[in-house]
Amino acid sequence: MIGFTFLYTALIFNPKQIADNLKQNNGFIPGVKPGQPTTDFIGAIMDKITLPGAVLLAIVGILPGIASKLGVTQGFSTFFGGTSLLIMVGVILDTLQQIETQLLMRQSALLVSKTLAEVAKVLRPGISSLVIDKMIGEFIYDHKAVPSFLNYRGYPFNSCISINDVVVHGFPNHDPLREGDIVSVDIGVILNEWHGDHAYTFSLGDPGEEVAQLIRVTKESIEKAVAGNRVGDISFAIQEHTEKKYGYGVVRELVGHGLGKSLHEDPQVPNYGKRGSGPKMREGLVLAIEPMINLSSRKIYTEEDGWTVRTEDHKPSVHFEHDVCVKKDTADILSNYAPIEAAEKANENLFSDYYQQLVH
Ligand code: MF3
Ligand code: CO
Repeated sequence: MIGFTFLYTALIFNPKQIADNLKQNNGFIPGVKPGQPTTDFIGAIMDKITLPGAVLLAIVGILPGIASKLGVTQGFSTFFGGTSLLIMVGVILDTLQQIETQLLMRQSALLVSKTLAEVAKVLRPGISSLVIDKMIGEFIYDHKAVPSFLNYRGYPFNSCISINDVVVHGFPNHDPLREGDIVSVDIGVILNEWHGDHAYTFSLGDPGEEVAQLIRVTKESIEKAVAGNRVGDISFAIQEHTEKKYGYGVVRELVGHGLGKSLHEDPQVPNYGKRGSGPKMREGLVLAIEPMINLSSRKIYTEEDGWTVRTEDHKPSVHFEHDVCVKKDTADILSNYAPIEAAEKANENLFSDYYQQLVH
């Protein structure tokens, strides 16, 4: 039975493949080098879980024998042994599945990060958002995934590209992007049945001090948000950092959300709210946290197309989004801005000077 358990986990879990996949997607396990060390690390974890699991199974397996020796009727001991075995196997499989889910969801989030990094490579004045949207679709299909926004409630594009006063859900179009535009690119994928959904705001050239600060502060607010036990703690942190501290407008009508096998799952994650309010977060819950922050008024309206959301005062708005997994005393940010930022810095058409003032 011990042998079987090892064989089983070896069959459904391949540490090398997981490590390779992580590496391919710029993923890593914090504190562990990519490549062989990661393979070893995952392998070691698997052994740690598998060995006690296998021993327990073996013990349960011999229980009926012991029971019958002790004079318990054969029927009872067989039933007892079989049932316990099933429960044990169930629990083990469930644990394995949880681990697998988290690995897969990170892959999905990282594929979005990688796609956004590709966008960061090509963004420049003169290119149209539709060309970028096409590229996004191709890149996602090339990575054995599907763009999840396409056809979602009838949404007609692979991505949302929201420029200047467009808050979110902007339709990609033929207009050439211009120097000074701020461009939020929001991308969703389904990879291995699991969703990744995140966004990043780029600036084509220097947007001026005021807007540069809006970009920086919105980006900072996500990092400030990933602490606490209740959804309201996230909401509070975002509102504190953006509205209270800087007087920006926090959009009320649109919120972040749970993420999993569906794009939008419970709970809703507003970007405003009271500390300690809202649902408790359980371990393993994955949230898409997405502050939409307006330079001035928080008021917005939706255009005739039923999607494009704009600021009422036509002042700029900034949108960042991260996929975050709730852990016992921490938050595990599944998406990764590092490859996007690297590409952004390398692209002379993109503004990244605000990094110097970023507070982590
Ligand atoms: N990140 C956005 C959201 O979670 C994008 C959705 S666009 C849609 O709502 F087309 F899919 F709706
Ligand atoms: Co989202």
